[in-house]
Amino acid sequence: MTMLTPAASLYEVILGVHVMAVVIAFGVTFAYPIMFAVAARHDPRGLPLMHRVEYTIERWLISPGLLVVVVAGAYLAGKGHHWSEFFVQWGLGATVLIGAIVGSVMIPTAKRAEQTAARDLAAAGEGAGALSDEYRALTRRLTTFGTLLSVLVLITILFMAIKP
Ligand code: HEM
Repeated sequence: MTMLTPAASLYEVILGVHVMAVVIAFGVTFAYPIMFAVAARHDPRGLPLMHRVEYTIERWLISPGLLVVVVAGAYLAGKGHHWSEFFVQWGLGATVLIGAIVGSVMIPTAKRAEQTAARDLAAAGEGAGALSDEYRALTRRLTTFGTLLSVLVLITILFMAIKP
């Protein structure tokens, strides 16, 4: 009779799922600045569509991904007895903050940016000069909160890895 030792424990598989969900949920967001810079410079008519893509990703990829991150993280915290540790408390706080900012700032602001850009382009014709101050204020808001979210994600990855 041969002894079978599993190649990986369930804990390790769930840890893999936790990290996969992080990559799937947040990976694309680090490319947003390049996508919007290219659209603004080469074809501003594409900006309303870009904002639609932006909030669709937030709703159908980032929000469910964040849920998987928390559920898998909660399993790891329970099974590994990590609940009282700082990196887990931080992770929970960061997750709540990320979810709140995505739902109450990013999605509504991207929708308004889509509508405002479409209106500006329809009214003033083509070219970046057509975009209003109102649109620029909305994209500044998206950039500010988007940067905050990216920094939050990176700090959380660092805390999860270091477990200070
Ligand atoms: C934005 C949110 C989060 C990100 C980016 C994130 C990222 C990561 C990463 C990259 C690791 C692998 C580190 C390593 O094992 O060396 C990890 C491990 C872990 N995460 Fe998270 N995490 C997040 C949220 C959470 C939450 C909300 C919980 C708990 C409810 C949690 C619980 C854990 C635990 C317990 C481990 C350690 C597993 C181990 O090393 O045995 N995470 N996380």
